[in-house]
Amino acid sequence: MDREVIRTRNFASDAANFIVDQAHKAVAERNEFRIALSGGNTPRPIYERLAIIGRDLPWESIRIAFGDERCVPPDDSQSNFRMAREALFIPAAIPEKSIMRMRGEIDPQMAAQEYENQLELLAAQRGEQIYRHDLILLGLGDDGHTASLFPGTAGLEETTRRVIANFVPKFSSWRLTFTFPLINHARQICFLVNTTKSAELIERVLRGDPQLPASRVEPTAGDVTWILGLSS
Ligand code: 6PG
Repeated sequence: MDREVIRTRNFASDAANFIVDQAHKAVAERNEFRIALSGGNTPRPIYERLAIIGRDLPWESIRIAFGDERCVPPDDSQSNFRMAREALFIPAAIPEKSIMRMRGEIDPQMAAQEYENQLELLAAQRGEQIYRHDLILLGLGDDGHTASLFPGTAGLEETTRRVIANFVPKFSSWRLTFTFPLINHARQICFLVNTTKSAELIERVLRGDPQLPASRVEPTAGDVTWILGLSS
């Protein structure tokens, strides 16, 4: 696992360029680009930038998944799908068939199983045991969570399932999330962390503090890139 840490004052632009580069590389090598989007607030300006510089990407050859989702309807203000739809899918005119939405509006266990089944089907079509993303985008929470793998939650201990419903006590709500087995099967992971996160937290994760879920992202045959926003 190679790791690169990029510190930049052009956070959204550099992150969007990184994604475009990964897309071109994957399409050139495998005629497909499999990406999983992260949610929350950090990615919005990156997706908005990506919609501009990536408008001419072969979106019909790109499969867009979500690394996690809140258990809310797709038009809810908390929905990661809604954020990505507004910032990227609509502005870049991405075809619906390229987008795999986690159905946050149905029973969480059913939604997780449904999504996992979709990924398993696609993996089987490629003869893969586990669906292998070309790129998984991840954020970092103030408590060191990533995707919806929060400290102290059952999801941290999942070693078999690829997508689960994870109850998060701090929010008293369910989340849908990739598990470490799926995340750590990716070719490339990119943490996108802007200046709202403390340097101390970032350093703890980079040092591999086991208390922090993000430290457990260690792709077995992939690389990790950190793109850290610097205050301008
Ligand atoms: C989510 C994300 C989550 C996010 C972190 C950071 O659904 O919230 O996937 O893992 O990346 O919580 O969130 P911010 O970017 O809003 O700080």
